[in-house]
Amino acid sequence: MRKLPLNTPTPAHSARGLAGHSVKHDSAWKHVSGQARYIDDLPMPEALLHAAVGHSEQAHARILSMDLEAVRAYPGVMAVLTAKDVPGHLDIGPVFPGDLVLADDIVEHIGQPLFAVAATSHEAARKAARLAKVDYQPLDAVVTVEQALEQQLFVRPSHTQQRGEPDRALAEAPNRLKGEQHVGGQEHFYLEGQACLVEPTEDGGMFVHTSSQHPSEVQKLVAEVLGLPIHEVQAEVRRMGGGFGGKETQAAALACVAALLANVTHRPVKYRLSRPDDMMQTGKRHDFYNTYDIGFDDDGLIQGADIMVAGRCGYSPDLSDAIVDRAMFHADNAYYLDQARVVGHRCKTHTVSNTAFRGFGGPQGMMIIEQAMDDIARHLGRDPLDIRKLNLYRPGRDTTHYGQTVEQHVLAQLMGTLETTSDYRQRRAEITAYNQSSPVLKRGLALTPVKFGISFTAKHLNQAGALVHIYTDGSIVVNHGGTEMGQGLYIKIAQVVASAFQVDLERVKVTATRTDKVANTSPTAASSGSDLNGMAALDACEKILEGLVAFAAEHWSTPAEQISFSDNQVMLGGLAVPWETFIQTAYMNRVSLWSSGFYATPKIHYDPETGTGRPFLYYANGAACSEVVVDTLTGEYRVVRTDILHDVGRSLNPEIDIGQIEGGFVQGMGWLTTEELVYSDEGRLMTTGPATYKIPAVSDCPPDLRVDLLPESPNREATVFHSKAVGEPPLMLAIAVWSALRDAVASVTDYRYRPPLDTPATPERVLGAVTASQQWLTQQKETA
Ligand code: MTE
Ligand code: MOS
Repeated sequence: MRKLPLNTPTPAHSARGLAGHSVKHDSAWKHVSGQARYIDDLPMPEALLHAAVGHSEQAHARILSMDLEAVRAYPGVMAVLTAKDVPGHLDIGPVFPGDLVLADDIVEHIGQPLFAVAATSHEAARKAARLAKVDYQPLDAVVTVEQALEQQLFVRPSHTQQRGEPDRALAEAPNRLKGEQHVGGQEHFYLEGQACLVEPTEDGGMFVHTSSQHPSEVQKLVAEVLGLPIHEVQAEVRRMGGGFGGKETQAAALACVAALLANVTHRPVKYRLSRPDDMMQTGKRHDFYNTYDIGFDDDGLIQGADIMVAGRCGYSPDLSDAIVDRAMFHADNAYYLDQARVVGHRCKTHTVSNTAFRGFGGPQGMMIIEQAMDDIARHLGRDPLDIRKLNLYRPGRDTTHYGQTVEQHVLAQLMGTLETTSDYRQRRAEITAYNQSSPVLKRGLALTPVKFGISFTAKHLNQAGALVHIYTDGSIVVNHGGTEMGQGLYIKIAQVVASAFQVDLERVKVTATRTDKVANTSPTAASSGSDLNGMAALDACEKILEGLVAFAAEHWSTPAEQISFSDNQVMLGGLAVPWETFIQTAYMNRVSLWSSGFYATPKIHYDPETGTGRPFLYYANGAACSEVVVDTLTGEYRVVRTDILHDVGRSLNPEIDIGQIEGGFVQGMGWLTTEELVYSDEGRLMTTGPATYKIPAVSDCPPDLRVDLLPESPNREATVFHSKAVGEPPLMLAIAVWSALRDAVASVTDYRYRPPLDTPATPERVLGAVTASQQWLTQQKETA
C-alpha cells in the first residue's frame, strides 16, 4: 500500500488550510453568532414531550413506598415510569455494574433518579416530578473520603504500584518528610448542560440526538434498557457546548430515561437538565485525600517515596477505577522516584458518582508530588525550582514506578527555556526583596512542570474509525468516531484530510458524528481524539489514494512514481490535471471514491496484577511559571503573570492548540483556587449554581498571560503528522498558581515553614495558611 510520508512535515504547497496551519475553528462564527445548533436549538418535532425525574432526598436509604398519584394527575403528564417499568437492563454502569437508570429499593445519593415523568411541557414535567410522596428508611451514610477510608468502603479494590524497596530507602535516607493534602473536586460547568432528544423510529427503535462524548455508549445503553439489538438505535452528536469529561458517561443516563419515556408514549422526548439539577444529579471531578512519605539526600534528590492517593468515587464505580489508576500513574508527575510505592484507593461514599474531568485523576495525583517538591525545598532552604529540576526524569533515571521508560526528554530543555524567558531568577530576587520590605502584601513565584501520559489506560479503547467520501465535484465529506466539544477536533481532522489530498480546506467538510456511519467508537477523551481519529481518517485517505493512483497510472500511462498530488492538482509526469477533472474522470471510469479507515494505537500494554507496563504511547509535556500577590490580612490574592511553554509536537493547528492551553490553564486555575463544592454532613451538595460556585471570570485571568509552543519538537512516535495531544495536559499547568500561593505564604516565615494549603485555595484557606505560619513563628520564638 502506498504510504503517505507521515514522517515528514506537511509538504510545501499552496493549497490553503492544510495541517500545521492556524485555521479558525469551523464553528467559531456559528458559536458567537448563535447559529450553531445545540440539542435545545433543534427544531421541535411534532408531538414532542419533555422529561424530568423525581430524585432522592436521602443520601442512603431504603425506599419503603412511593406514592406517585399526584405526579400522574398533574395536567400535561403523559407517562410516569419507575424501575419496574424498564423492559431491558436496569443497570447502565459503563464499565462495572452499579448505576441504575432508575433507583430500585435502595437509594445511595441525594439527587439519584427515582422515577421519570413525560409531560407536554418542560415546566409541567419538572413541577409534576416534585409532587411524589416518598417514604424512606434512612441508612448510615458516608460522605467524605476519610470516613470511607476509616470504614474501608471502596467501590473497587485498592491497587499498589511498587518498585524496589521503598521502606528501606526511606529508613536509610538522610532526610525524610511526611505530608498530606486534600485536593478538591470540580463541577464541569459546561455552558450547554446535559441534554438529549430521542425520537422513536418506524421499527420500534430510537434515534438519539445527544450531547455526549461517547455516542456509541449512548447507543448501546439505550438499546440495552429497551431490550433491543444495538442496530435498532442510532445516536448522533453534532457538537457539545463543552464536555470536559462530564459527558463521557453522564449523557447516557439522560438518553436512557428519554428513550424509556419515548418507548411507552410513542412520541419524541426531550430531556434537558436545569443547572441546579445538572450539578446535583451528575458526577464531577473526584476530590482526593493524598499523603506522602519521602526520603531524600542533602541536595534534595529523592531516594524513596511512599505515596497514597484516595479519591472520592461516590456511590458507584463509573470510571473511578481508571481515574484512580491515572492518579497513581501521575503521582510522580515529572520526577524519578527511585524506590517507590504508590497506593490508590477508590473510596465509596453516598454522594453522586464522580466521573471523568479533564486530566482524569492525573491532576489530583500530581498535586501530592508537587507539594512534596515545595516541602523538600523549604526543608533544605533551597529554591523549589532547583529541587524540581534536580529530580526530573533524565537519561539513566528514566523509568517510572510502573516500569514505562520516558523516551523523549524535553522537560529539562523546556523548563530551562521557560526559566530564562520568564526571567525567573531575576524576579525571584526582586520578590524576595519586596517581601522583606512589604509587611502586608506578599508576592509568590513558582515554575512547575507537567508530564502527562497519552493513551486510554483501558487498552481496547485505543482504536478509531473514519469514513471519507469524495463526491463527483471533488468536494469531500469526512466522518469519524470523535466528537466536537469545542476543542477543534473537526477542523484538525479536516486539515489532515485536506493534507492527504493536497486540496484546499474549503473542499473538506466534517459532518456530525453518527453511530451508523462509524461503528463501535471510543469516547472522545484521554486527549486522544486527534491522535486516534486523525490516523483513522488518514488511513481512509490512503486507501482512496491507492485506487486513484492505480487508475491514473493506467489511464494516463504514467508510472506510479511520477504521480503526485499538490496544490489542488494531480501531477502526472509533466501533465497537471485539476482536482475536479481528475475526480470526474475517475468516477466515469468506475473508481471507488470513498473508503473507511481504521487505527489502533501500537506498543501499549499494562498488567494491573503487577502494576507494570507501558500504558502510554508517549507523554505530553509543558511548564508554567506563575506569579501571585497575596494580601496577608484577608487572604485575597491576584495572579499577576503567567508564562507557559508547552509541547504539542508538530502542531496540527497552532492557534487552536494555544486556545486549548489557555483554556486548560484557566480551568485548572479555577479548580485549584475558587471552585468549591460544599457538601452538608448529610451529603447534600450546597453549591448548585453560579451564585455559590465560582468559576474563573475574565477578570480572574492573569492580566499578563504569555503562551508559547515548544518549537521544533516533533513527536518521536508516528502520530498524525507527529503532533501531540493537547486537550488535557495544560490544565495541570495551573499547579504553578497553587505553588506560587504557597510560596507567597511561606515568605511570612522567611521560607522556613511548609504552610498547609488544601485546594481550592480560596482566600479563606490562604488566610488559614497565613495564620498557621504566624503561629509557627510565635512558637519558634517561644521555644528559642
Ligand atoms: N476544550 C473545549 N473547548 N471543550 C471541552 O469540552 N474537553 C477537554 C479537552 N478540551 C474540552 C476541551 C477534554 S476533558 C478532553 S479529553 C479533550 O479536549 C478531548 O478532545 P481531544 O481528544 O480531541 O483533544
Ligand atoms: Mo477528557 S476527562 O478524557 O473527557
